[in-house]
Amino acid sequence: MTLQDLDLDVYLTPEDLAAGLRTDARTGLSASPKWLPPKYFYDARGSELFEEITRLPEYYPTRAERSILAERAPAIARITGAKTLIELGSGSSEKTRLLLDALREHGTLGSFTPLDVSESALRHALDDLHRDYPDLHLHGIVADFVNHLEVLPETGTRLVAFLGGTIGNFTPAERAPFLSALRDRLAPGEFLLLGADLVKSPAVLIPAYADAAGVTAEFNRNVLRVLNRELGATFDPSRFAHVALWDEANEWIEMRLRSAVPQTVRLEALDLDITFGRGEELRTEVSAKFRRDGLTAELAAAGFAVRDWWTDREDRFALTLAAAV
Ligand code: AVJ
Repeated sequence: MTLQDLDLDVYLTPEDLAAGLRTDARTGLSASPKWLPPKYFYDARGSELFEEITRLPEYYPTRAERSILAERAPAIARITGAKTLIELGSGSSEKTRLLLDALREHGTLGSFTPLDVSESALRHALDDLHRDYPDLHLHGIVADFVNHLEVLPETGTRLVAFLGGTIGNFTPAERAPFLSALRDRLAPGEFLLLGADLVKSPAVLIPAYADAAGVTAEFNRNVLRVLNRELGATFDPSRFAHVALWDEANEWIEMRLRSAVPQTVRLEALDLDITFGRGEELRTEVSAKFRRDGLTAELAAAGFAVRDWWTDREDRFALTLAAAV
């Protein structure tokens, strides 16, 4: 079977993504301090680099979450009885197979809807999934989970999975409206399965975002290549150093790119010149870490009741099953 036979809805075209990038780049690069949203990491190369990150010895979240899923997927299937599994920011959907297997075993699963900003990542995932789950109705959605929650399928007892700790890319001020909007899309009794990385020692956190092999540094600099390609920018990625720091007060990891030299970068598509002082930093990502009480309270404020809180053996990562109330 070919990909044309698969159900793929594109709500976010490369042109839409480019238009958003123009707005965000103008705003973020003109601000002080400078910043960019993390979603632009994930072009085809960035998605591949992220997959490589998930296999690094220092990057524990993927393995920790997988171990929880491996243990709890049968309970999740039993508790939710989900007919429709929706995954936000699905990427390769690799860990999601544990859920698909358990739901299939349980006998309720009818369809799987992965949603991602990266059409290339989604097509790869759908292609692989179709081979291994030929009877499952697959419905891919290319969209941004912040702006397109209204496109989620309305049918079936739904389970929305938001895995990997991607919730951490929101600041607390952004999390509340996102969680409320998601809650509003669900009926009472439907479920959210949320993966969240937990607060822990910076001695463990920092290497996860500054690996010895330099893959995360490449991933970070990749956003500059995206700007060069999409906006006709003149960034020389080698003139920016990768920075990962732990913000103790906010309990989040920040990734930044530090200009090694004073330099001016042209963004042709924006008719904009941006100057960087020596050592000036551009924030490219926030990755917030969570505590049980705080996350439970945030979910409650959005209208979700936490039913289960599961962690890996080393308490590094949590998987929360919450019901819409
Ligand atoms: C995909 C957002 C969960 O924050 O850990 C990995 C992205 N950034 N290494 C994370 C990421 C640097 C990742 N999330």
